[in-house]
Parts: sequence; structure tokens; C-alpha cells
Amino acid sequence: MSTHAEEHRPVMLKEACDGLAIQPAGVYIDATFGRGGHTASILKALGPKGRVVAYDKDPEAIAYGRLHCQDSRLMLKQGSYTMIYEDMVHQGLLGKVGGVLMDLGVSSPQLDQAERGFSFMKSGPLDMRMDTTQSHGITAAQWLAENSERDIADALFRYGDEKLSRHIARAIVHHRTQVGPIETTLELSQLIESTVGHRYPRGKHPATRTFQALRIVVNAELEELKSCLDTLIDVLMVGGRLVVISFHSLEHRLVKRMMQRYLPGNESIEPYTQPAEPRLKRIGSTLTASLREQAINVRARSAHCRIVEKRI
Ligand SMILES: C[S@@+](CC[C@H](N)C(=O)[O-])C[C@H]1O[C@@H](n2cnc3c(N)ncnc32)[C@H](O)[C@@H]1O
Repeated sequence: MSTHAEEHRPVMLKEACDGLAIQPAGVYIDATFGRGGHTASILKALGPKGRVVAYDKDPEAIAYGRLHCQDSRLMLKQGSYTMIYEDMVHQGLLGKVGGVLMDLGVSSPQLDQAERGFSFMKSGPLDMRMDTTQSHGITAAQWLAENSERDIADALFRYGDEKLSRHIARAIVHHRTQVGPIETTLELSQLIESTVGHRYPRGKHPATRTFQALRIVVNAELEELKSCLDTLIDVLMVGGRLVVISFHSLEHRLVKRMMQRYLPGNESIEPYTQPAEPRLKRIGSTLTASLREQAINVRARSAHCRIVEKRI
């Protein structure tokens, strides 16, 4: 299987695959296939009886996999990782999976293709949906057109940690009512630049945080992550591993809290109201990418890799 590493450089590949503690005949899940860098590594460690089931919301990722990653041990599925539990029930694999890997966020091809609308550096429609199939979700342009100034400001603050969220939201709503809908990436980034650019430090584009926030909202990233994490414990066999690579503080916090809650002694952790059974064991401390990897891959600089094992 070729991985076309030039398209998406997998982050913390060795750490993540070591963390899965791969058994040659095991079943493994790659919850975020992307361009298959991690999947390729898992397949390499598996024997002829091993299997990988890989998911991605993005139909382009799955189409890429079908074309370039042909391997009889690999099953590719288009859809959210929130479907893993149900899918494992249907396949009779609930409680039989040796490891699940989640490498969160966007892939380089998604960022690089202007027409996907993820990048404020490239001119394209303001889309940002990972799942572009007809029935799924609204675009970032639609979200900005349909929400109130207050909701826009709240989202930019909460999901982008944008301190100037109110100014930006006001400018967006003013533009929408006085000039017309904001439909392209450059329209939005230029509007942000002209509104708050002078208040931003040099070196950081003033649209960075707004674009992150919109991407998270449009794809319901945190809601999906939250609703999926607990269910993965039932998917795993006893001794199975969950490895999660996260990239920004909101993801780090969510993953950390979920894992902590199932560790012995932490059953009643905030903000959960119901205590949890201590079903997990922590494997090592949170890993970060080596300085060498950080030097060659900018995305790796913010990566945190957490590993837990199912004990009951
Ligand atoms: C960082 S990339 C994964 C890269 C991959 N590990 C590789 O080596 O090529 C993240 C991928 O997760 C996908 N994704 C994001 N949220 C998802 C979700 N809720 N369910 C399934 N896939 C999702 C994105 O479409 C993207 O392709």
C-alpha cells in the first residue's frame, strides 16, 4: 500500500502505533483515515489475519483510500466516528477490537484545497464541511448567514478563543445586512483583517482563530468527539488500547477529562454528575512529538498523544 506521504504527513506515527500495542491477528480501528498514513503503519504491523476498519467523514478521503490503499485486510467506511459503536454491533465486533486510533482535526489536503474553504490564505467558497455528501450539514457561509451576532460572537470566543469576537461578529452582521452575504474565504478574512487587523500582533493572521472556530462549529467537532469517546470503551476488548492525538486546548481538555474519569480514583470527576466505573488504565504520560518531527512538520508542534488501556 502506498501512502503518498507528500499529501499528508502523519503525526506521531511511531508513538501512536507503538501505543496501540498491535497484535498480528487483531482488529484495529482508524477513526480518522485522512490519507491513510496511520492505517498503512498498522497494516504493516499486522499479519495476514489482522484487519483494519477505517472511517472518515470526508468522502474524498475514502475515495483516495479506495484508489491508493488497496489491501484485503482494510475496510473503508465513509461517515463519522460516532457510528463506530453501532457498526461494531452490526459486525459482531463489539468488545473484540484490539485498538482504536483517533488523529483529530483536519488533514493537509483539506487545508490545501481552496475549494474546501478551510484556508483563509486561499480563495474559495466558505464551505468547511468535512462531510460534503448532500444530506450532511450546512456550510460556514450558511452558518454565518443564519446565526445572530451574539451566537457568532459566542462561537468565536468559545471555539477560537478569539478575544475580539464581539468586534468581528458585529462586522460580519453589518456586512451581511449592508453589503450582502459573505460567501468566500477571502471575503471573510479581508473583513476580519480590516476590522481587527491593527489590534493583532505581527506574525499571526487575524482570521486564524475565527476560521478554527467556524470549522469546529460547522463540523460539530467537539460534540461528536464527546459523544464518541465513552462508546469506544465498549468497542475495545479487555487489554485493547485507545490512542488519541489532539491538536488544540479544547480537544486536549475533552480527551483528558474523558480518560481521567475512567481511571481508578477519579470516578466522580467534574463536570460529570454520574460517577464512572474505573475501566481504563493509563499507559505512560501524555506524549508530544520529538523536536525532530516538530522541525519538519508544523502540525506536530501542537500534537498531544494520550494512550489508555481497557482493564474491565
Ligand atoms: C488529521 S487527519 C487524519 C490523518 C491520518 N491519520 C493520516 O495519517 O493520513 C483527520 C481526518 O479526520 C477526519 N475527521 C474529522 N472528524 C471526523 C469525524 N467526526 N468522523 C470521522 N472522520 C473525521 C477528517 O476528515 C480528516 O480526514
